[in-house]
Amino acid sequence: MRGNEEQLRGLAVRIRGVEKSFPNGEERLQVLRDINIDVGAGETVSITGESGSGKSTLLSLVAGLDQPEQGEIIVGAERVDRLQERELTRYRAVTVGLVFQFHYLLRDFSALENVMLPALMQNRPAAEAEERARKLLRQVGLSDRDSHYPPQLSGGERQRVAAARALVNDPLLILADEPTGNLDDYNSQRVEDTLLSLVSDHGKTLIVVTHNPALAARAARTFHLEKGCLVSR
Ligand SMILES: Nc1ncnc2c1ncn2[C@@H]1O[C@H](COP(=O)(O)OP(=O)(O)O)[C@@H](O)[C@H]1O
Ligand SMILES: [Mg+2]
Repeated sequence: MRGNEEQLRGLAVRIRGVEKSFPNGEERLQVLRDINIDVGAGETVSITGESGSGKSTLLSLVAGLDQPEQGEIIVGAERVDRLQERELTRYRAVTVGLVFQFHYLLRDFSALENVMLPALMQNRPAAEAEERARKLLRQVGLSDRDSHYPPQLSGGERQRVAAARALVNDPLLILADEPTGNLDDYNSQRVEDTLLSLVSDHGKTLIVVTHNPALAARAARTFHLEKGCLVSR
């Protein structure tokens, strides 16, 4: 999707030799084995793999939600696997934008407020947060839903609000974990279009985990997780 020109500007993500296992009775379940990947700034990369292949585990390491047992995860100029709690909190809130399969919008807040919240939590001025949130909602095609509450929105609309929210703090990297996993074909398509155009309009880097081959194929590069190894497709 993005050309060489973007990639020459530098790397957004560098992962080297990442290993991750979980306790499994007496033994350990090795989920990720020697994971290596470079993602250029502004590039879109997709990761596919069967359920249980470790896709969410890998994203959670990049998101700073969990730590690898071995290896390095570098996002921008930061060693994510070495960040202390305080920096990690900032990293999760500002450097990465997350879009999950389930939207996690707060039901007692309007669409506009949901998009604004991460900016307000960074002590951004309310007027600035609101302006940015309105702009993002316009870009995801939901200007007319600003004052709707999540229960009043369709599944696809909620995912588009979640995509807008992921960008509100102007993150370096967007991580999307099966963002269309819970939607019918029509809404999947709309959420896909929205996410990809949002990322490209803002020049963001995207790693998207998906079961949807059509979405995977729209990324500049596709990887597959199998038996703990990440292979290029
Ligand atoms: N916190 C955890 N503790 C133990 N096992 C886990 C934990 N998180 C994930 N797993 C296991 O790791 C494997 C990969 O999980 P996950 O990354 O969620 O897969 P995917 O997202 O590809 O479906 C699964 O077998 C899952 O049961
Ligand atoms: Mg998963």
